[in-house]
Amino acid sequence: MSEKLWGGRFSKTTDKMVNDFQQSISFDKRMYREDIAGSIAHATMLAECGIISEKDRNDIVNGLKRILTQIENGQFDFSMELEDIHMNIEKRLTDAIGEAGGRLHTARSRNDQVALDTHMYVRRETVDVMRLIRDMQQALLDVAKKNQDTIMPGYTHMQRAQPILFSHHLMAYFSMFARDYERFLGVYKRADIMPLGAGALAGTTFPIDRTSVAKQLGFGSIYTNSMDAVSDRDYIMEFLSAASILMVHLSRISEETITWCTREFSFIELDDAHCTGSSMMPQKKNPDVSELVRGKTGRVIGHLMAMLTTVKGLPLAYNKDLQEDKEGLFDAIDTVKFSLAVYAEILRGMKVNREVMKRAVTEDFSNATDLADYLAKKGLPFREAHAVSGKAVHYCIEQGKWLEDLSEDEFKALSPLFDKDIKDVIRPETCVKNRNSYGGTSGKQQQMQFTEAEHILDREKQYLLEREEKQISIN
Ligand code: ARG
Repeated sequence: MSEKLWGGRFSKTTDKMVNDFQQSISFDKRMYREDIAGSIAHATMLAECGIISEKDRNDIVNGLKRILTQIENGQFDFSMELEDIHMNIEKRLTDAIGEAGGRLHTARSRNDQVALDTHMYVRRETVDVMRLIRDMQQALLDVAKKNQDTIMPGYTHMQRAQPILFSHHLMAYFSMFARDYERFLGVYKRADIMPLGAGALAGTTFPIDRTSVAKQLGFGSIYTNSMDAVSDRDYIMEFLSAASILMVHLSRISEETITWCTREFSFIELDDAHCTGSSMMPQKKNPDVSELVRGKTGRVIGHLMAMLTTVKGLPLAYNKDLQEDKEGLFDAIDTVKFSLAVYAEILRGMKVNREVMKRAVTEDFSNATDLADYLAKKGLPFREAHAVSGKAVHYCIEQGKWLEDLSEDEFKALSPLFDKDIKDVIRPETCVKNRNSYGGTSGKQQQMQFTEAEHILDREKQYLLEREEKQISIN
């Protein structure tokens, strides 16, 4: 006889290959805490509603707590034959406490059970991801504050465009990660809906109390429709989508780090502890971490595509295809958390070569816009001012000079509107200082960004505390 919990209507045991193919225990065992917490809440509710006795409930709860200890001490033998985490735990419980264990699954299906576990799991991991995003933002702010006066070229088309503050560049990422954080707040909200009580698909004939389960497990709301509760995986798609966007941001900063630490740029140097060498070329110091973060981004995006594709053609309600929601999700969670944690360290450890950055704006034409703006402020239409500045650049290239090298006479020859204050206007420091429009790169705007960033970090901390409080604890 098979030890399967659904073995009743079968006269043959399951084919070995089918067992191996359909099992999920090899990966869903990481939801054991959620499964146990969910079962404790379910059993508690069943007793509250008079569906099982108080004694049965106590036996179940104590038995589940013993199983939790066994799993955490590595003494639990997970069985492939028992398919998934839900049946592994239920079977072990029934072996240990007898009949009461057999009552645990009253008014419940694995369909709403797995939905419950995954919601709780995503909710917990989302809080972790939010915490790590915030750490990353803190690292960016710290490094930015240390480099308040560091000037570098800003690029468009990978060509030097206008002088900017290095801190302005870093704070651009701070803002992107702030929005990532908000996206995960949204993910949290959708993972915070309680599906249990949906049964297999249509609800249950037992007089259950879904509000009690939701309350015990700290859920913000309850699925209104039982078929929706067991069928949709949109909260997982949302997690993967928020994770993909986050990884794209991480990938871009990785790409920039890789460029900046090339010999050609030499804008930064990564800490030795964060780089690796080559087995053949003794001189090499490679930015592998940045390359891997960039590389792993494709993998997370792939998981999003897989999830969307898996669900797109599925009829309601549960189909086994939905078991495919987990491996990609788990891998995305691990990848995102690891990438965030390691990248904050990369940023904190890097050395900024201020002089090299500065040289890149002094020996350059990235102040040409400022020349044009100067003339436009004196009344020349910007289009014409643009042309004069373009001519000035052309003249300099022919003469082997930079704009700052031109004499007053040379400027006057280009346009009578030039006065001697032009010399100061095109200094990189002035170019930066004068870009004082809201959100611009000036030092003043930067201070405002820093203040705003502190507010954002405070607010994010508050959100974290509120959500950490709601995390389940089994005691
Ligand atoms: N391991 C399954 C999953 O992850 C649990 C739900 C199984 N339900 C079923 N009717 N076979 O989706």
